[in-house]
Amino acid sequence: MCALLAALLALLLPLSQCELNFNNDLENNQKFKSVPTTIKSYENETVLLPCYLDTPFHYVRWHRDDVPLVDSRHPEIPPPERIVLWSNGSLQVSNLKSEDTGDYYCEIMSNSNHAVQVHAIEVQSEPSIAIEPSGVLELSIGSTFEVVCLAHGVPQPAINWRLNGNILPDYSSTGNRQSHIFEIKSRTMSGLIECLAANGVGQPAVAGVQLRVLFAPELTLPQTVVYTKVGDRAQLECIVEAAPMATLQWFHYGVPIQNGAHISSHETELGASSHSLDSYVSRVKHVLILKKVRDADMGQYECRATNSIGFKSTTVELTGRPMPCIFKINPGTQSSTSHVLVWQTESMLPIMEFKLKFRQIPSANISRPIRTNWTELTIPAQVTIGPIYITSYTLHGLQPASLFEVSVLARNSFGWSDNSKTVRFATGGEVELPNYSTESELQYDATEESFDNEITQRSQVFTASMIHNAATRCGYSELAYLTIFINICLAMRYT
Ligand SMILES: *[C@@H]1O[C@H](CO)[C@@H](O)[C@H](O)[C@H]1NC(C)=O
Ligand SMILES: *[C@@H]1O[C@H](CO)[C@@H](O)[C@H](O)[C@H]1NC(C)=O
Ligand SMILES: *[C@@H]1O[C@H](CO)[C@@H](O)[C@H](O)[C@H]1NC(C)=O
Ligand SMILES: *[C@@H]1O[C@H](CO)[C@@H](O)[C@H](O)[C@H]1NC(C)=O
Ligand SMILES: *[C@@H]1O[C@H](CO)[C@@H](O)[C@H](O)[C@H]1NC(C)=O
Repeated sequence: MCALLAALLALLLPLSQCELNFNNDLENNQKFKSVPTTIKSYENETVLLPCYLDTPFHYVRWHRDDVPLVDSRHPEIPPPERIVLWSNGSLQVSNLKSEDTGDYYCEIMSNSNHAVQVHAIEVQSEPSIAIEPSGVLELSIGSTFEVVCLAHGVPQPAINWRLNGNILPDYSSTGNRQSHIFEIKSRTMSGLIECLAANGVGQPAVAGVQLRVLFAPELTLPQTVVYTKVGDRAQLECIVEAAPMATLQWFHYGVPIQNGAHISSHETELGASSHSLDSYVSRVKHVLILKKVRDADMGQYECRATNSIGFKSTTVELTGRPMPCIFKINPGTQSSTSHVLVWQTESMLPIMEFKLKFRQIPSANISRPIRTNWTELTIPAQVTIGPIYITSYTLHGLQPASLFEVSVLARNSFGWSDNSKTVRFATGGEVELPNYSTESELQYDATEESFDNEITQRSQVFTASMIHNAATRCGYSELAYLTIFINICLAMRYT
């Protein structure tokens, strides 16, 4: 009687109470020949759930979760579609669909016993995924946005996030709905944001959204200084990258430049960069052409690009000054008290003179790092045929086994060039010196300048010889020699 009541309750009461009932009925449970199983199967398959006692039974009935399915006492009631109750008590579910997934309770009644056994069907299904937003997203740097991915599949798929094909490790977890907030920090975030859902059934599902980062124009100048002379044709260039596309205006000392007979401008669309993801970015080379440079054309030009995100401006100088000198590596061996320096410059106008600046760098022995003041030499240019000028000059009377740094400027009728790079050289001697290279650029160190006052320089005779190029674009074989004598200050007294 009690068992019958329990059987009724099992049918009527919700799932949790069924389980409770079933679990407590250990004695009866042991009478089952079949064992509880979870059947993992696929869509369209057929599965058989067994329900056998070791004794004959009166009736059997099945329900899925809390839905009654079949009852052997009521053969006149047709079973649900695709379900068959066999005479031996087994339940067959054919042509599986995902909604067949669930717990199946078999309730069986023998002569004296009532027993319940639970099986489960898990209809495995390939993952599917949806992403929101989808398509193409255009946002500017600094924006944040949320991407939501919704995955389905049995078993529950794991979701992974990818940016441009790279897994974002911190973003992965389980759960069929995941959202992530992205902050656009730079242009490099442009690309494909994807969600992947995988559950071991079939192929992982992928959904993506294309992110295009919009940004204010970025300018690149192939040359920040353009060297020319009056009467020549000059060309200023400004390369603009922007998304969306930028408009550009040239200015000369703040005055907008209009195209005319004298000045023209044009632009060339540059191809997309190697990143195919950047194909939405516009790359344009803007060129300003001065057909015949006049004196008034010299000076600062501004290239100003504007788009809906912002603007950027940069300047390029048109000048007749000489180009900065470049020291050439001197292959000759150097003596302990002299050093040969060779440099090259280019000038559209004849070079008039050079200014050579050098100073000794204190050796490592000195406990306090101090630097002497620069010694400046004015070296008149001897050859006036350009545009390439190669000059050789020998510093004499140097302290042996010492380290020096040197820089040079050139002047033509338009003005002084910028400083050359400062390079180091060492005189020969017995003391081992730190490695140096005549090509290395020294960083200007302002803190060391403050020690300058601690050094006084005394005048002494200094001999310098100078070698000039005899012809345009000359090689060293064509060099003519000239020696000049210059008094310079070299002796140092540390106070
Ligand atoms: C199951 O059968 C239906 C109808 O024939 C078919 O559309 C579906 O692709 C099948 N599913 C699988 C996983 O084979
Ligand atoms: C129960 O009946 C079904 C259908 O006839 C059969 O396939 C299955 O093997 C039977 N089970 C046992 C234990 O006899
Ligand atoms: C510098 O130090 C070395 C050894 O460290 C020493 O032999 C040399 O005499 C020192 N030179 C000077 C100028 O003090
Ligand atoms: C100096 O140059 C030599 C030879 O090129 C090298 O073996 C040595 O490590 C260098 N020393 C320093 C301090 O760079
Ligand atoms: C070094 O230069 C500083 C700044 O120009 C100057 O005040 C100082 O007198 C110079 N020292 C010597 C020794 O000429």
